[in-house]
Amino acid sequence: MLSALLKKCRWTQKHLLGIRDLSREEILSVVDLAAGLKKEKDAGAPLKGRRLLNFFAESSTRTKTSFGIAARALGLEVLDLSPAASSLTKGESLKDTALTIESMGVDFAVVRHSASGAPHFVAGKIQGSVLNAGDGTNEHPTQALLDSLTIRESLGKINGLRIALVGDILHSRVARSNLWAHAKLGNEVTVVGPPTLIPRHIDALGARVSTDLDAVLPEMDVVMMLRMQLERQQAGLFPSIMEYHRFWGLTRERMARLRPGAIIMHPGPMNRGVEIAAEAADSARSVILDQVANGVLIRMAVLLLLDRCS
Ligand code: CP
Repeated sequence: MLSALLKKCRWTQKHLLGIRDLSREEILSVVDLAAGLKKEKDAGAPLKGRRLLNFFAESSTRTKTSFGIAARALGLEVLDLSPAASSLTKGESLKDTALTIESMGVDFAVVRHSASGAPHFVAGKIQGSVLNAGDGTNEHPTQALLDSLTIRESLGKINGLRIALVGDILHSRVARSNLWAHAKLGNEVTVVGPPTLIPRHIDALGARVSTDLDAVLPEMDVVMMLRMQLERQQAGLFPSIMEYHRFWGLTRERMARLRPGAIIMHPGPMNRGVEIAAEAADSARSVILDQVANGVLIRMAVLLLLDRCS
């Protein structure tokens, strides 16, 4: 069954560093394979004997845990390198860390780092495949892939849709990966937020830009709320949390503006009461926990494609 699923896939990548590098066919191959894996009860440990290192230099609940679950479901040995408990705290460089990882023999390195480009740097130093688990404000490719699977499951298609990305676009690697994905898949994306949190030239990625959430909501099939990244904020980008919530938060009142069938997404972790009200996060329209569940399948699919088809 697995070999039949893999036979249909198109994939040429040695690493997964960004959605920017993928073709439409490659994105759809990951989504289709993940959907196929959902129907399989047991993947049968096809990657037994291989080793995956989770190297997360920024905190994570969903991505790190789901890479671990996905890897174990495929029979991989999983190792964790936590920077806080590693020799990075003694001043070891990223280069020496990468060379050390390489000497230990790792088939897959999953890298999250606050510096944009860190996974690309590691990919240049090791023989194994590098999977970008989020680099600075650049990309978070597996998030956009699991978002695409969730949208297709919820709405029955993944093209010709109107999608709003709402909030802190400036600091969001999730926004950038989704913008690349939906430009390739044929969806129309509108980015919405305070002008100070929308990067200049975002329209070069094919996005429409708005600062008026109330006007945009009734047109959308998908509303993806983004986390206010308080840890990456410079002072003064918006007046106050309360005012941000009033103008750009998905409140109970704003939900009434949504079209029938429109879905609410959030990559997590959520700031309830800031970008999203509890009533919206927990509503029947919310597919936020489906996104988390699909993360395991997408990461299994990517690992299989990197191993079998690159
Ligand atoms: N969506 C996401 O990347 O969540 P974590 O930071 O918990 O991994």
